[in-house]
Amino acid sequence: MKFSASTVSFLVAIGIVDAFPHLALNELQRRGSIGARSGGSASGVPFPPDPAQVSGYFDPALQYVSNKGAHAFVPPGPGDQRGPCPGLNAMANHNYIPHSGVGSITDFITGTYKVFGMGLDLGGFLAVYGAAIDGDLTSWSIGGPTTLVGLGGTGLIGSHNKYEADVSPTRPDLYEYGNNYQVNWDQWKALYNKQAGVPDDQVNYNLAVLQEFRSERFQQSITQNPYFFNGPFSGVAVQPAAYTFIYRFMGNKSAEHPDGVLNRETLKAFFGVTENADGSFSGGTGHEYIPDNWYKRAIGDEYTIPFFLLDLVYEATVYPQFLDIGGNTGKPNTFTPVNITDLTNGVYNTKTLLQGNNLFCFAYQTVQNTLPDIITGIIGSLTNALAKYAPDASKAIATLNCPQLAGINEAQFEKFPGYTKGGNAI
Ligand code: HEM
Ligand SMILES: *[C@@H]1O[C@H](CO)[C@@H](O)[C@H](O)[C@H]1NC(C)=O
Ligand SMILES: *[C@@H]1O[C@H](CO)[C@@H](O)[C@H](O)[C@H]1NC(C)=O
Repeated sequence: MKFSASTVSFLVAIGIVDAFPHLALNELQRRGSIGARSGGSASGVPFPPDPAQVSGYFDPALQYVSNKGAHAFVPPGPGDQRGPCPGLNAMANHNYIPHSGVGSITDFITGTYKVFGMGLDLGGFLAVYGAAIDGDLTSWSIGGPTTLVGLGGTGLIGSHNKYEADVSPTRPDLYEYGNNYQVNWDQWKALYNKQAGVPDDQVNYNLAVLQEFRSERFQQSITQNPYFFNGPFSGVAVQPAAYTFIYRFMGNKSAEHPDGVLNRETLKAFFGVTENADGSFSGGTGHEYIPDNWYKRAIGDEYTIPFFLLDLVYEATVYPQFLDIGGNTGKPNTFTPVNITDLTNGVYNTKTLLQGNNLFCFAYQTVQNTLPDIITGIIGSLTNALAKYAPDASKAIATLNCPQLAGINEAQFEKFPGYTKGGNAI
C-alpha cells in the first residue's frame, strides 16, 4: 500500500519528521510497502504504519533492554503486588519499578519509557490517572490494596470500570468470573491460537490479528456476561490499549523489522506463560518476564498519545461496534447501546466521535468530569494534576483542542447492572 496524504501529515503532526530529520517527506511516501509480517488486515484495511518502519531506524545499543544483574527476574514475594497489567508486572519482576508493585508517578513514567518506549505524554497520563483513581494521589499499586498506599487506594485490581475493563485479552470479565487479573486459560489459548499453523518465522501477533481477537472477545462478553459494561473510558480507551499495547510494546524490534515482530516465544515471555511438553500452559499472572535479547521501540519513536489515537481510529473504523457504549441489561445477549448525543448533551454523536481527535477527547473528558468529589477536592481537577505531575501529558492534551464537555449524563447508565454494581463507577 501507499501511505495516504493524511498518514504523512500525521507523521508530521506527531513530530516524527522532526525526530528523524534525515528523512524527507517524499521518502516517507515512497517507502510505502508494508510486508506480510507487519501490515495488512483480515478486513483489508491496513493498520497505521510505525514511523520506525518508515524511517528504518534501529539502534541495538540504545534499544536493548537488560534482564541481567540489577534487572534479573525475581518473582514476587509475600506482600508484593501484581495485577491485570502484564507490562507493569514484568517491570516490577525486573526491578524497573519497585519490586513491591507500588510506585510513584515518576517511577511509572520513567519505567514505561525506559523499558517499553512509552511516550512521556501517555505514560504521564496513565500514571497520574492511576494515582488519582487507584492510589493516594502520588503513588499506587499495580495489584490490590496495600498498607504501602494510603487513602484507601484500591490498586488496579479494585478499579473495575474506572480503569480495569471488560473484554480484556487474557483476563476474565470481573462479574462473570469473580476476578479480573488472573490469566484465563481459554482466553489465552484463543489468543495464542490466532497464529496456529503459521510457520515460526512468519508469526506476528500484529494489530490486525489482535483487533480480530478483540472483536471475538467483545462478542463473547455480549453472549456470556450478563453484567458486561462498555464504558466511555474503560471501553473506549483502556480496552483498546490492552490490545494495541501487546503489539506496539511487546514486539521485538530489529534492523530487519524496526516496527517489531511479536512471535510466540516473546508473547509467552511477557505474559509469563510456560508451554508444557504435553501442550498445556502454566504460569501467567505474576510470572511475566523480559526475554533475552529483546529490543524495545526506537528512540524518538515512542508510543505517544497521538499515535495511540491513530490506532483507536483505525480500530473503530474496522469494527464500529467497539464504539457502542452501553452494556447488557442483566442477561446475556441484551446489549443496549446508549445514545451518545444524549450522553454528552449534544457535544458528540456517533459520527463526530470518529472525527479529528474526538475519540481521545471524549474518553479523557469523561474521566475528567466523573472523578469522585473526594479527589477533585484535593487535586482540583485531572487537568491540574496533569499540569503539575505530567507536563508532557498536559501539553499533548492541550494540543488536541478538545471540544468542551460540561458533563456526561450518567443516568443513561442506570439500566446496566455492570455499572450500578460497582457503585456507579466509570
Ligand atoms: C503507567 C502505565 C500503565 C498503566 C496505568 C496500565 C494499566 C493497565 C490496566 C488498568 C490494565 C487492565 C485493562 C483491562 O482490564 O483490560 C492493563 C492491561 C494491560 N496492559 Fe497495562 N498499563 C500501563 C502500561 C503498560 C505497558 C508499558 C504495557 C506494555 C506491554 C502494558 C500492557 C498491557 C496489556 C497487554 C494489558 C492487557 C492484559 C490482558 O488482559 O491480557 N501496559 N494495563
Ligand atoms: C530480536 O531480534 C533480534 C534480531 O533479529 C534477535 O537477535 C533476537 O534474538 C530477538 N529477540 C527476541 C526476544 O526474539
Ligand atoms: C439520539 O438522540 C437524539 C436526540 O436526543 C436524536 O436526534 C438521535 O436520532 C438519536 N440517535 C440515535 C442513533 O438514536
